[in-house]
Amino acid sequence: MNKSEAKKRIEQLKEELWRHDYLYYVKDAPSISDAAYDSLKRELLNLEKNYPEFITLDSPTQRVGGRPLEKFEKFIHRIPMLSLQDIKDDKEFDDWEVRIKKLINRQTKFDYFAELKMDGLAVAIIYKDGTFFKGATRGDGVIGEDITQNLKTIKSIPLKLNIANLEKRLGRKIKEATIEVRGEVFMDKKVFLKLNEEQKKRNEQAFANPRNAAAGSLRQLDPKITASRQLDFYGYQIMTELGQITHQEVHQFLVVLGFRDNTHNQFCENLDCFKNFKKKIEHLRNKLPYEIDGVVATVNDNKLFQELGSVGKNPRGAVAYKFPGLEATTKIKDIIVQVGRTGRLTPVAILEPIVLGGVTISRATLHNQDEIERLGVKIGDTVVVQRAGDVIPAILSVLKNLRTGHEKTFKMPIKCPVCGSKVIHRQGEVDYYCSNENCYQTLRRQIYHFVSKGAFDIEHLGPKIIDQLLGAGLIHDQADIFALSKDQLMEVERFADKSADNLIKSIEQVKEVTLARLLYSLGIRHIGEETAILLFNKISESDKIIKNINQVINFFSSKSVDDWERISTIGPVSARSLVEWFSKKENINLLNKLERFGVVIKPEKPSTVRQKLAGLKFVLTGTLSSMTRDEAKAKIRGLGGSTSESVGKKTDFVLAGTDSGSKYDQARRLNVKVISEQEFLRMIK
Ligand code: IVH
Repeated sequence: MNKSEAKKRIEQLKEELWRHDYLYYVKDAPSISDAAYDSLKRELLNLEKNYPEFITLDSPTQRVGGRPLEKFEKFIHRIPMLSLQDIKDDKEFDDWEVRIKKLINRQTKFDYFAELKMDGLAVAIIYKDGTFFKGATRGDGVIGEDITQNLKTIKSIPLKLNIANLEKRLGRKIKEATIEVRGEVFMDKKVFLKLNEEQKKRNEQAFANPRNAAAGSLRQLDPKITASRQLDFYGYQIMTELGQITHQEVHQFLVVLGFRDNTHNQFCENLDCFKNFKKKIEHLRNKLPYEIDGVVATVNDNKLFQELGSVGKNPRGAVAYKFPGLEATTKIKDIIVQVGRTGRLTPVAILEPIVLGGVTISRATLHNQDEIERLGVKIGDTVVVQRAGDVIPAILSVLKNLRTGHEKTFKMPIKCPVCGSKVIHRQGEVDYYCSNENCYQTLRRQIYHFVSKGAFDIEHLGPKIIDQLLGAGLIHDQADIFALSKDQLMEVERFADKSADNLIKSIEQVKEVTLARLLYSLGIRHIGEETAILLFNKISESDKIIKNINQVINFFSSKSVDDWERISTIGPVSARSLVEWFSKKENINLLNKLERFGVVIKPEKPSTVRQKLAGLKFVLTGTLSSMTRDEAKAKIRGLGGSTSESVGKKTDFVLAGTDSGSKYDQARRLNVKVISEQEFLRMIK
């Protein structure tokens, strides 16, 4: 390859790589594999090594080009970088419109452009003849810092503008040699969380939020570090006059030139439209992959915008509605300890509830004892809490000047708050663990059981959600389910307005529970669904009417194994289990808590001897055609009979549907009568 061939090939490779960068980072639609892309880039790198005279600033190999800097140079903004006036509510929007209409002395209708206010850092990027030339931070608006090297590492900022594309749209050549684009550099929430994980692993300070992480990444003297941080960019201004008539067109031009634009941004024909936009985005806020701190309304007509000029540092033609802050101060009422899936103990601060970003926050993680010591936090302290996106709220700092002297120091417990086993803290390790390997698993399974079909039967509350609620520290036992609020659910990932409403509704619906169901739901060993019903029947027969949980506690706690054995229906194993369960303080606490959280006993008629299937024991097997097995079981119980899962000598009937299996064979072996569905239907008619 001779020199001119190399030059040609370099040009072609650059064009091709720009195009793939654009497809990947702007369009989100790559057309070749990463490996193929890397291969093209390697070829370009090699050619540039042999012919360094052909290296240009906009070459894709130059994204992470230069050596680390000593310091950043100053950059003077040709046109000052302004900021926006904040608007508090819809009324202030109306006032703003009235004001600007008066100013331009025109009552004509005018429209707006609505866009997201990205929570990142404002930057200016200068292109010379379509090529990335310089980039700078906002600084004080007049003097910023030259961060060219770092901005070039951001893949969604084109190194070369697609000038030809814009010329095509405009139908004329572009004469302007310099084009300045302004916009916001930000970091995705996911990238932020991953970065913080890595910071922790390296024993380096975690960033407080994505914005700080983006700022820290942009201010790196070594562009290699910036490149590793996966920053992103959305443009919102073109400072050069290119014939853009509206602000909407500014956004369109940016796309034409090769930038990515936020798809949520929209044209608004009036302020009402903008107010709806604001409402919609506020709801969407938590679900967005990046943080926004508000929305921006801009007078769409650029000429009008210019005419309106500015007051101080703010243009008159645009305003920002800032969403409620994600930081606030509150008091720590208590510090509790939550046991995680691996048995790890996590201290959690119980807060005086406060609203953060439209969601009520009542707890914040304290991570571990080290974190408590680092913050110096005590029970009763006033603290700054922060909610960053979907992550569990965290405590940022303690306002020690506000102490009263009544604050209490927190110590990690020596016994596990869930199962009472010893807590272990290995030397040199940060975390504390419950020594009982089954601890959390046991609790988890107890809660799964508690909400299951024969028990409280709570719709929309399956194992996955329970795990999430446990993980978020919103529930610590079965009773906590009844204290969940919609706001709390909204703090949990995957919950939206509707799903939160649905779950709250299902929980409300089951607060009234029959005694048999309550007994079964407690997961007492050897007290299955059947035994629970038998117990209920026995208690009712003895004319004892149990009307509330307090009476449940009194009645069951007063019974000994002998007492139960006298009530012949339950065997000695169940009796012992029952007595043992009701002798434990934590179980009584659980029942008391259920009562406190509104669980009441539903009056139910006991089965009487006169019923058709009284005393008969059924086992069901196979599929029934006229009803489900659960329905059949309910019918049997309703008529005084009982059902069990395995065939034994005491079984009276095996009700066999189609595809019945081993239970059928067992019945044959034990000489137990097998009846068909038809026979059963006749029996209960
Ligand atoms: S317009 C004339 N649009 O918010 C000022 N700003 O308080 C031009 N920001 O410094 C700003 N997203 O850092 C505008 N879509 C957006 C924005 C946005 C974020 C930031 C920007 C600016 C601050 C204004």
